[in-house]
Amino acid sequence: MVSWPTRAALGGAAILATAALASAGTSSHSGMHHQMQAGQSHGQGQAMSSHMSHDGAAKDAREMVQFPPDMQTHFLGNMRDHLQTLNEIVDALARDDYAAASKVATERLSLDSPSAAGCKPQSMHQASRPPENRSQKPMTMEDMMETYMPEAMRGIGLSMHTAASEFAKVAMTQDRAGAMTALSHVTQNCVSCHSSYRLR
Ligand code: HEC
Repeated sequence: MVSWPTRAALGGAAILATAALASAGTSSHSGMHHQMQAGQSHGQGQAMSSHMSHDGAAKDAREMVQFPPDMQTHFLGNMRDHLQTLNEIVDALARDDYAAASKVATERLSLDSPSAAGCKPQSMHQASRPPENRSQKPMTMEDMMETYMPEAMRGIGLSMHTAASEFAKVAMTQDRAGAMTALSHVTQNCVSCHSSYRLR
């Protein structure tokens, strides 16, 4: 298993790479814009608006990942539960209820929670088989996650669940500052994945 700083570095590298692509796109496009301006001074307004809308699209440097519809529904449902879980954790911490914060993190977000199953490398032997060779049995959600989620994305997911397990432990020490720091390691991974990938 790769430790989480390495995974975070991977995520960072993906962001840098996509940012470089986006800026390359922008500079070549602005070259085109100058050409248009020279040729058609009256059409400038129109050229400007298409330039702006193109830039708007180019700014979304996240990698588009395609999931089958069922898997996307399942994945986004998990996501909404992740946010609800964070909300319950913050609420419990505000009441100094460390046991409740730890419990909800363990049950809904940790490596041992059902939501972590699709990010765990444990069933990797199945991933090496192409999907058509498993057609006798319908694919489980875990199979689908292995098949369709990019390796680096799964890595960030695994880091997030690992950080949640760590939070659950630290929260039990009732150290507020330590718990908040551990929680920020969870949210860092939410942010890291969201800045790198999109489904739609
Ligand atoms: C491994 C990557 C990854 C991690 C980790 C991750 N997310 Fe997401 N999340 C996504 C992707 C991809 C989307 C879809 C974004 C899009 O298509 O625009 C998403 C969407 C969401 C949504 C919108 C759901 C909907 O119904 O539209 C919420 C809320 C969300 N995530 C919360 C969280 C929270 C909170 C965490 C951390 C505890 C988290 N996510 C961690 C990848 C991730």
